[in-house]
Amino acid sequence: MNRKKFLKVCSLTCIGGTGLSALMQGCASSNYFAQHSVEHNRITISKSEFEMVKKDQIIKRSFVLVKNNQLEFPICIYRLNETEFTALYLKCTHQGCEVQPQGNFLVCPCHGSEYSNQGKVINPPAEHDLTKYRVSVVGESIVVQL
Ligand code: FES
Repeated sequence: MNRKKFLKVCSLTCIGGTGLSALMQGCASSNYFAQHSVEHNRITISKSEFEMVKKDQIIKRSFVLVKNNQLEFPICIYRLNETEFTALYLKCTHQGCEVQPQGNFLVCPCHGSEYSNQGKVINPPAEHDLTKYRVSVVGESIVVQL
C-alpha cells in the first residue's frame, strides 16, 4: 500500500470511529434517569417521568432508571401498561455486572445473560431472576418498596 492510500484508509477509519463513538453516546443518553424522592426505604417517582415530548407529541417511555445512593446499581422501572410497573435491580445474578436495559428486555454485557422486563431469565448463563421490588401505584405516583 502506498503512502497516499495508507493515509486515506487511516482518515476513513478515524472518521468512522468518531461517528461510531457519537452514535454510542447517543444510545447511552437514551436511558433516562427519573427524578425521585426517597423516604422510609421507599422510592417515589411521578408517572409523568415516563413521558417525553418528541416532535410536539407526548410519547411514553417503556422504562426509566433510578439511581439511589443506598444501592450499588440503578433500578429500572418498566411501564407494562398504564397501571402496572415492575422495578428491577440491575445487578446480574450470574457474577454481579450491571445489566443494561435494551427496550423491553435487559442484557448483561459481561457474559450475555438476558432477562425479560419482568426480571425473568430468558438467556443463560444467569440461572436466577433479577431482584424485583414491590411496586404500588398511588394516584399519579409510583412507589417502589426497597
Ligand atoms: Fe452477567 Fe455473567 S455477570 S452474565
